[in-house]
Amino acid sequence: MTKLSVNINKIATLRNARGGNMPNVVQVAKDIERFGGQGITVHPRPDERHIRYQDARDLSKIVTTEFNIEGNPIPKFIDLVLETKPHQVTLVPDAITNITSDAGWDTIKHKDFLKEVISEFKNNGIRTSIFVDPVPKMIEGAKETGTDRIELYTEAYAKGFEDGTKETSIQPYIKAAEIALKNELGINAGHDLSLDNIAFFSSHIPGLLEVSIGHALICESLYLGLENVVQMYLRKLI
Ligand code: PXP
Repeated sequence: MTKLSVNINKIATLRNARGGNMPNVVQVAKDIERFGGQGITVHPRPDERHIRYQDARDLSKIVTTEFNIEGNPIPKFIDLVLETKPHQVTLVPDAITNITSDAGWDTIKHKDFLKEVISEFKNNGIRTSIFVDPVPKMIEGAKETGTDRIELYTEAYAKGFEDGTKETSIQPYIKAAEIALKNELGINAGHDLSLDNIAFFSSHIPGLLEVSIGHALICESLYLGLENVVQMYLRKLI
């Protein structure tokens, strides 16, 4: 079964809009776990526009499922991960100015850097995943970095699904997953996954271990309620 890790960045965005502590990010994480969520993901960015570094510290003490911190491994981020020791760190090559992640790693160009960072995290008992496009040579390059897992960047799939071309847009992801499995890499996926497109994706990708979903899940919860939505995802991931 594929695990659902809920990305709670948007909860922090809402909190930051007013400057107080509502909604309370820690309480929401606890509630998501109570509703059946199998992991909590956060993506602290250097400008702390949603999740703050202190949120990651606070969450690391209370998350009882799987805690996943994602981000660009700049020195401040590496220090935070080594301090909080999440179960998993997902490395993402996003520029400071990006609104959201918009590309996977070039695992060939950045092989030496990734190798070094990944080995530091793994030496500290933290599982590693790296964000990649579904491109065969990037998956093969990921193997060379020593990472435990890859996270497939699913924006192109989600766009294809919306445009009515799901059958063709899923193909590179199936191929990428097959290469990952052949190379004994675990497979995660995320970005723009939603209640509409998740079942088709998860039922076609062999060995999909985990999806991390934030934006759509929180938007859907505005209409359907967070507890309900978490459980709807779980039913689609069976
Ligand atoms: N994976 C990565 C690397 C991300 O940067 C994000 C967005 O923070 C997600 C997954 C989740 O994407 P979404 O918010 O569209 O579900």
